[in-house]
Amino acid sequence: MDQAQRLREMVSGKVKKRKKVPVLKKENNTANRPEIITITSGKGGVGKSNTCVNLAFAMASTSKRVLIIDVDIGLGNTDLLLGVYPSYSLLEYLKGKCSLEQAIMRVSEKVDIIAGGELAKDDFLLSSKERDVISTDITELKLYDYIIFDTGAGISSNISYFCQSADRVLVLTTPEPTAITDAYALMKSLYRKSKDLEIQIIVNKVISVQEGYETANKLITVSQKFLLAKPTYLGYIFEDSSVTKAVRKQVPYIKEYPASSSSKSVYQLAASITGSKVINSKTPLGFLSALFKR
Ligand SMILES: Nc1ncnc2c1ncn2[C@@H]1O[C@H](COP(=O)(O)OP(=O)(O)OP(=O)(O)O)[C@@H](O)[C@H]1O
Ligand SMILES: [Mg+2]
Repeated sequence: MDQAQRLREMVSGKVKKRKKVPVLKKENNTANRPEIITITSGKGGVGKSNTCVNLAFAMASTSKRVLIIDVDIGLGNTDLLLGVYPSYSLLEYLKGKCSLEQAIMRVSEKVDIIAGGELAKDDFLLSSKERDVISTDITELKLYDYIIFDTGAGISSNISYFCQSADRVLVLTTPEPTAITDAYALMKSLYRKSKDLEIQIIVNKVISVQEGYETANKLITVSQKFLLAKPTYLGYIFEDSSVTKAVRKQVPYIKEYPASSSSKSVYQLAASITGSKVINSKTPLGFLSALFKR
């Protein structure tokens, strides 16, 4: 059974009705605001957090100010990848134990992070009140060119919320068939809620440029055919032992191994993003970021 057939069967299956995810109120916005980027994937462990951290540093090297928010609440490990140990987290902020400003930790001159925090249980569904709390305090942050949400994997209502709220959604996959089918399932779910989403595909752990194109092309082709949606291909990151070495050292690979193949790929991705700012006025956080004016 080839990949396309598997995908065709997936879309021809019975579609379960999903609960509508409440999102924030849409308002007018302007182009002079931070872009909100959500990094997500269907399958876990495909490299979202590493990509998030390294993209942030690559974007910062072009003088952009970036805030990473780990919204894999309770399970996130973005802070560990950076070797930092924030005193507070998004979770503590949501529980009223600190302000959003206290939860923000400076990692480098142009990169800040809000960690996800730790939870005893493994699921944390944001209540509408907590979403309101996030939106209220986020409006006070006026400093950033980009805010990147690093999500967990799959199709939870939290993840859906952060995707629907973003200007640009980066869906990560690897060339493995299991990662591709899960990415497709995620995209199907996201597009069902909003056809206007700006979804861009990143293929991580490729062994050739061609493999990146072919993987993205499978997803683009089935999305166009069966979902009538048009995701685009942002680029690839090479499979590279520098990534794992840097993870062990708890430093971004673009800092530790700037000449590695993975670093070069990430700089290219960063250039594509910073060269084409996406302001999606149809997303709910659009109205928030209008208030971020610098
Ligand atoms: N380009 C790459 N080359 C080699 N190994 C990689 C690459 N990208 C990621 N990895 C490996 O994959 C592991 C998982 O990466 P990461 O934690 O970023 O995934 P994730 O998608 O954030 O996972 P989760 O779904 O649990 O949040 C890393 O520890 C790293 O060893
Ligand atoms: Mg992660």
